[in-house]
Amino acid sequence: KAFEIKWDEFQIYEDKKLGEGAYGIVFQGALVNNSTKMVAIKTVKPGVEKSILLALLSELKVMIHLDIHEHIVALIGACTEFLRDGRVYILVEYCPMGNLQDHLRKQDKNAMYMDITDFKSPALSPVSLEDENFYGDTDILNYKLLVKWSIQIARGMQHLESKKVIHGDLATRNILLYNKSHVKITDFGLSRQLLDCDNYVKKSENKLPWRWLALESLKSNVFTHKSDVWSYGVTLWEIFTLGLIPYPGMRWTTDFMSFLEQNLRLSKPLYASDEMYKLLMRCWDVEPNNRPGFKELEQLLLVQR
Ligand code: ADE
Repeated sequence: KAFEIKWDEFQIYEDKKLGEGAYGIVFQGALVNNSTKMVAIKTVKPGVEKSILLALLSELKVMIHLDIHEHIVALIGACTEFLRDGRVYILVEYCPMGNLQDHLRKQDKNAMYMDITDFKSPALSPVSLEDENFYGDTDILNYKLLVKWSIQIARGMQHLESKKVIHGDLATRNILLYNKSHVKITDFGLSRQLLDCDNYVKKSENKLPWRWLALESLKSNVFTHKSDVWSYGVTLWEIFTLGLIPYPGMRWTTDFMSFLEQNLRLSKPLYASDEMYKLLMRCWDVEPNNRPGFKELEQLLLVQR
């Protein structure tokens, strides 16, 4: 109950839709108790099935369990007073620059400004990971910034792992930009908190993010921290291609599974170094135990800068 927020303590800007999924919508809004603080408000579309409402409540439960972390979108509170009418509102911290997928794809000029020589000699222009304002007011992307985001996502994922939470849907669409050099992980809609078993077997579901899923998740619906590592690799592939769709041109058929079973993988992103591509390939090892953990991934990336 510590997170309960009353209906008259916030406003929803219904004309400012931030995102929309199959059954959830995210609006911009504001807390209006003491000061006015911008928030993002996640709710369900009117008249959805009870199971969808329950899914949003389970997402809320995961978020309460997660505590504060600088690379996880913070829960501000929730309004559950209309639960019987089929309505719930989850208030989270507002990330003004939207999601990473849109940001990567946004400017065509991104690709022009990305200096190919940048990643061939990363030692040339050292920049501190903590130096938030190094890039000034420009939207120009460069190799160091892409690595910085990757490190931050690995740190957020270490926090999830320490809380025994499997994300289950890690992708750039679920990474938000708090500012241009600070990203946060969001959308725990498909996440599961592990209780006593160390992996989670999901019942068949119709809409799976198959391009991001590990082979064992596709084959046997098994979700573990190591299947999150696979998705992390696909997320980094999106980052280092500046937002391409993984497996371009492929569609969801059983052929996709045999593609992976033949040990075929995503090709090397245009903006990835050889070392970076080696790291991605390790995330997609058929054997989950051979994949690096999030701590090791952070350490490998810290020497890539
Ligand atoms: N889209 C989805 N969630 C969001 C948030 N918390 N801030 C900004 N845009 C979002």
